[in-house]
Amino acid sequence: MTPPSQRIAICPGSYDPVTNGHLDIIKRAARVFDKVVVGVVDVQVRKREPLFTADERKQLIEAALAENGVENVEVDVFSNLLVDFAREHGATAIVKGLRAISDFEYEFEMNQLNRTLAPDIESVFILASSDYSFIRSTGVKEMATFGGDVSELVPPAVARALNERLQGT
Ligand code: PNS
Repeated sequence: MTPPSQRIAICPGSYDPVTNGHLDIIKRAARVFDKVVVGVVDVQVRKREPLFTADERKQLIEAALAENGVENVEVDVFSNLLVDFAREHGATAIVKGLRAISDFEYEFEMNQLNRTLAPDIESVFILASSDYSFIRSTGVKEMATFGGDVSELVPPAVARALNERLQGT
């Protein structure tokens, strides 16, 4: 019998910066797929200038994955269409986390657009654990800007990077 080919999924996002909520989704995806590629977007679509460069965001994700002993996940930066990036990696699925109903509308639209471009790539949605359903990178950055303690919300390396970038400590 032919062995099944590797099931590869993309976990795309801005990850500016990665949060414990993102990590939860990535780790859970890594249990379902043989390999997960975390795709860090390096283009500004309808958003503010990112706090961290794409390479910094990539390194912060890699540090968090190493700390968590996650092995079947790699991180790559992309600036092309998500479905093209998925194809480049031989992925058959795009994994997104859903925190609340408010995420649904946007993801529903993205799913339809991506499906039109690439019907062979399936979008898979993982519901956020209740512990993480309130965490958003934007909120974390806002708290850190005003000196709030974000150590419960992000991996240790991210908390340090936020302090350095925003507080100069
Ligand atoms: O909410 P995020 O983290 O900024 O999401 C970024 C991403 C890439 C997951 C989202 O913009 C998306 O699903 N884009 C699909 C459409 C596409 O291919 N755009 C070009 C690269 S952004």
